Amino acid sequence: MLTWEQLEYVTKHCVKCSLCERRTNVVIDRGSRSAGIMFIGEGPGEQEDIQGKPFVGPAGQLLDRILSAAGFSENDVYIANIVKCRPPGNRDPLPSEQEACINYLRHQLLLVKPKIIVCLGRIAAQRIISPDFKITSQHGIWIERKGYYITAVYHPSALLRDESKKRPTWEDFKEIRKKYDSLFGEESAF
Ligand code: URA
Ligand code: URA
Repeated sequence: MLTWEQLEYVTKHCVKCSLCERRTNVVIDRGSRSAGIMFIGEGPGEQEDIQGKPFVGPAGQLLDRILSAAGFSENDVYIANIVKCRPPGNRDPLPSEQEACINYLRHQLLLVKPKIIVCLGRIAAQRIISPDFKITSQHGIWIERKGYYITAVYHPSALLRDESKKRPTWEDFKEIRKKYDSLFGEESAF
């Protein structure tokens, strides 16, 4: 298992797929590396590539508003992506690119050790939960695997395109908050 320093070094120099050719920055994470909940998107967009942090463009600003409405601060959450370099024109990362990158995310998961994993959008859900995952009918459903509670929500950029996805997403985030509180809420021993 890699340390954070090793992961940063190795990803910065990674040439495992052709996305490395056009990257400005490798995008690893933001938030807390000891968070109890991990959010996984698909890959960096233009702003993320420039700033070297995930979800800092328009979709990220919406994600931050939703997180804050659900009572999460940046200190409570860990945010990462399936791939660490920007796909050209923001196309979906190819299966081969996801495959080349996924081990880095596995290291991140082992280092952070969250109890909850939330997939942001179809691409992450299909890679993390199941290849045939249908985001429209299966968002908000929880599975348990290897001691992790895992769910998926619509991608924030889908909410920017389609307002009608905001309400169901908010319902999903209320359940995410409930799950978080049930696992991490302060309980008096007496
Ligand atoms: N969309 C993603 O999936 N990830 C980001 O980091 C930004 C936008
Ligand atoms: N399309 C959607 O509507 N939502 C996602 O999360 C991804 C693609």
